[in-house]
Amino acid sequence: MITKRNPPDATSLMMSARSFGNYDLAGALADLIDNSIKANAENIWISCDYNDGDPFVSVSDDGHGMCALELEAAMRPASTNPADERSPDDLGRFGWGMKSASFSQCRKLVVLTARDHEMSGAIWDLDNIDDWTMGVLVGDEVVRTATRPFVDGHGTEVIWKDCDRLSEDHQLTSANFNEIVRRTADRLAVVFQRYMEGKSKRARLAIHLNERPLKPYDPFYAAHEATQPLEEEPLLVANHVVVVQPYILPHFSKLGEREYERLGGEEGFIRNQGFYVYRNDRLIIHGTWFRLAKYGDLSQLVRISVDIPNSMDDMWKITVDKGDAQLPVVLRNRLKQIVNRLRSKSARVYRARGGCLGDPSSVSVWLRHARNNEIKYSINRSHPVVAKVLKSESADNVRALLHLIEQNFPVAKFRNDAMSKPDSISQTPTSWHEMKQLLDLTIPRLMVDQNRDLQATKNTLERTEPFSKNWQMVERYIAEKGW
Ligand SMILES: Nc1ncnc2c1ncn2[C@@H]1O[C@H](COP(=O)(O)OP(=O)(O)O)[C@@H](O)[C@H]1O
Ligand SMILES: [Mg+2]
Repeated sequence: MITKRNPPDATSLMMSARSFGNYDLAGALADLIDNSIKANAENIWISCDYNDGDPFVSVSDDGHGMCALELEAAMRPASTNPADERSPDDLGRFGWGMKSASFSQCRKLVVLTARDHEMSGAIWDLDNIDDWTMGVLVGDEVVRTATRPFVDGHGTEVIWKDCDRLSEDHQLTSANFNEIVRRTADRLAVVFQRYMEGKSKRARLAIHLNERPLKPYDPFYAAHEATQPLEEEPLLVANHVVVVQPYILPHFSKLGEREYERLGGEEGFIRNQGFYVYRNDRLIIHGTWFRLAKYGDLSQLVRISVDIPNSMDDMWKITVDKGDAQLPVVLRNRLKQIVNRLRSKSARVYRARGGCLGDPSSVSVWLRHARNNEIKYSINRSHPVVAKVLKSESADNVRALLHLIEQNFPVAKFRNDAMSKPDSISQTPTSWHEMKQLLDLTIPRLMVDQNRDLQATKNTLERTEPFSKNWQMVERYIAEKGW
């Protein structure tokens, strides 16, 4: 046998690195922030500039920086072996983070760095990478390229140019861009909350986004008086300690409207219940039950923090983008026990105010009838909204429509989904606009039924779907009407 060199084609390999992981802007920035944290930075300045549709992103830190040789190694794809043992505070893993995160967003990665006042800079340009040639900045090019000066002669700045993934959407307006940046800020505020609050073992971290300090955000709302923290449980798994701390969030009626919306997040409480896994104090996954439980109304107030060390990366199968992990088999049963205990507690908090299917004192939209081995679902004709339209002139048409919907409910498809992917079933939650329409329809009739007694009307609404589950919105409606 003879040997033959067979290296990868540089451009193709780097192009495929663009789709390693599943980064969005927040995920990609988080990977750079991980590096800054590892370099002991106490301040990180992120700037996201719309730049007339050709977005420009930079992340600077006041960490220890790199010398020229270290920069060269850092720019190299797969700069470290994932199997090497990492120091316990290290947030990196595959030696790919900076590269894959950056190229998930841009075509041109510029890294400027200073250590002991020695400055260096290097550039990977995906359109100009033949045979692995990297640009190296010389003379005063580093200073001229940097968007902010290095404090005390040390620190690092990463710049993303030609952000084609961000501007992929040709309609990228400045409003869209601002919305992306706003959502990104919300995510980073949760992901690095413990670092920003000084709760990790290092000095407190400040993150500035477009010159404004980012406020840390606690997804457990631990400081709120109505949050119930349950007992913390350290679990010993193959010589690693995993710390589990469940919380039951306050009932909606205890939260202000803004608090409620922020805590529910983009997808709402139902989607955000479950485990929140922190690796070295950095949130990596949130809002999953790892199939140990179903997403449901009754458990929507449960959030469980799970703390894992980076020495368990193998067991958790941490992905390159640190956006996903799998629950190790050895932990399944123990977490399942914790979950079961919690669900009944949460159900008590939730039921204390809300209504649910099967609760005789509540008025639900769907009714379930079981008789002689036959189960049937029907739309509740005495639900106030339904009753109201059944009193209108087109009542016959409405009745025909209700029958049509009930008789053609996609039973087989639903059964399939409920069995194979129960976690993915998601009926859109009620929006404020829809709620207003429903209330416009419902309240006048209820007021007549209740002899114009507002309190009695409220009591009925409180037991009626979907108002019972969106009580905050009902309160807002009533306040806006000035009743
Ligand atoms: N902001 C930074 N400050 C100092 N060193 C950095 C910084 N960003 C990256 N590096 C260096 O570059 C290396 C490669 O980073 P990265 O590609 O994210 O892989 P990993 O974090 O898995 O090692 C890091 O190990 C670190 O030595
Ligand atoms: Mg890294």
